Amino acid sequence: MTIKYLGHSAFQIVIGDKVLLVDPFISDNGLAKGKVNVDEIEADYILLTHGHEDHVADAESIGKRTGATIVSNFEIASWYETKGLKAHPMNHGGSKVFEFGKLKYVQAVHSSVLPDGTYGGNPGGFVISHDNGILYISGDTALTYDMKLLPMSGLKPDLCIFPIGDNFTMDYADAARASDFVECNTVIGCHYDTFGYIEISKDEAVKHFEERNKTLLLPKIGETLTF
Ligand code: NI
Ligand code: MN
Repeated sequence: MTIKYLGHSAFQIVIGDKVLLVDPFISDNGLAKGKVNVDEIEADYILLTHGHEDHVADAESIGKRTGATIVSNFEIASWYETKGLKAHPMNHGGSKVFEFGKLKYVQAVHSSVLPDGTYGGNPGGFVISHDNGILYISGDTALTYDMKLLPMSGLKPDLCIFPIGDNFTMDYADAARASDFVECNTVIGCHYDTFGYIEISKDEAVKHFEERNKTLLLPKIGETLTF
């Protein structure tokens, strides 16, 4: 599995021969300018955790160009279907086997509305069980005790993608607690530095994890990690 960071909470994940794009917010992200070409991004599936602009902004254009299937909650999937995109609706607690593995849509504590004001359902995260392990993408969320349900139900992640920028989501300290809750020691941080509200000290965040014998990975925009 490879994971390429596209800035903010956007990732391109390659599992086997399938390409997953998560929460694409690229063309309006000043930090991604010159580092990611939105017109060249490939995708078979576009996973959307919730409807906020900073997670869905480029989903429609990439979905139309690539023919990718939007995977999200029922309300968001339906909204993209009305725009002519392929979509697979899910809701909390439900799993489905896709070509890349088994995907479960799980709780997030946040809000969700689509860019035009349409109700965006409830926000969520994704747990992907694939051939080489389990990946948990929490989406924008507060620390929540529900995260403990993952290891309790046999979904102990090998790798987590957590927001660490505070203000709208968990900060890095809560992200470290979340990694305790799900019993995982390797976290990729996201949702930081994009806007003034969520600027953080990356050094402090990395040190905080190190002190707990955990690893916080903060790839550069455009960088690809291999697992
Ligand atoms: Ni959000
Ligand atoms: Mn957000």
